[in-house]
Amino acid sequence: MNDDAAKIKHRLGSSVVIPAHHYELDEIVELADFLGDSYKLAVDCSKTRAEYIVFGGVSFMAEGAALLAGPDQKVLIPDPQAGCPMAQMITAPRAKAVHEHLSSCCDRQIIPIVYMNSHADMKAFCGVHGGTVCTSSNASKIVKRFLDEDKSVFFSPDFNLGINTANDLGIPRHEVVTVRRDGTLEGDDPSSARLFLWDGFCHVHKTFTLDDITRLRSSHPDIQIIVHPECEEAVVTASDYAGSTAMIYNTVKDAAPGTTWGIGTEYRFVARMAQTFSDKTIIPLRESICHDMSRITLEKLTTSLRSIETFTRGEGPLIHQVTVPEALKKDATTALQRMIDIVEEA
Ligand code: 13P
Ligand code: SF4
Repeated sequence: MNDDAAKIKHRLGSSVVIPAHHYELDEIVELADFLGDSYKLAVDCSKTRAEYIVFGGVSFMAEGAALLAGPDQKVLIPDPQAGCPMAQMITAPRAKAVHEHLSSCCDRQIIPIVYMNSHADMKAFCGVHGGTVCTSSNASKIVKRFLDEDKSVFFSPDFNLGINTANDLGIPRHEVVTVRRDGTLEGDDPSSARLFLWDGFCHVHKTFTLDDITRLRSSHPDIQIIVHPECEEAVVTASDYAGSTAMIYNTVKDAAPGTTWGIGTEYRFVARMAQTFSDKTIIPLRESICHDMSRITLEKLTTSLRSIETFTRGEGPLIHQVTVPEALKKDATTALQRMIDIVEEA
């Protein structure tokens, strides 16, 4: 089967690219043209000229690629059921109602910023209201941009990325308000708050605990701990470093041989790094798996590639093409492009 996928890919040549997220199975990573965190994948997809992008990742990532794709490019996802539960934790109608309520009690203009792990309706909502998308690699830079303009920010859906960003930027706790999913507000004074945080979460990263870190530090005194900012605040605070999957990968890659690393992010990615960087000792904080990412199997990828071949011969449809409703496209793309512009500016 591996051979099949590689052979079809070879036959399709430069007309197809396969981007893959770091959490994908080894069999997908092996075939990928580019590998990265969600920001890098979005930017790489926006630059490719390939006619077909077969996305090794979850649906919000493929949707992002479809938003940034040119009119002649088509994005396919090998399994459209590969979602992200966090992205389901807020919808545009809900965000609109909350944003209106918060705007009525806050003295400053409130800009909505949505994590990349969201659907196109949320990105479009942000685009319409002067806001933007962010990823774990740029959340601090994006939030800071709006705070520096004396605006407040409504950040969703990931609470942990939001609170860890607040800590990174030194935003005092009394300026942070939590917006519970039932609509109740928790915090000191919404009228002067700078950051409103939706209480969504990633079930994969929520499992890491302070005890995991304490245990590893006591058994490996020289260990350095690096985690993803979707982890709980206490876990991030107790770690030596926190960052996106690409940051984690590059930090470990560039570390001195012989060093020991405790890593708090998706287990299969950590296991692959342990094999790849065998001159270092790499230990997962615990074995927490993103089963949505693992839905993209070699078999399904092969089916996607095969459908491109039959489609180009006029013998069948493309399987699982990712499209974004026309009504959302312009505003969602505006929010995504704003993120890229802010990140890429000098
Ligand atoms: P990165 O942008 O760091 O790759 O994160 C994506 C993600 O879904 C982590 O759970
Ligand atoms: Fe979503 Fe968590 Fe999986 Fe990332 S690891 S795709 S946030 S469920």
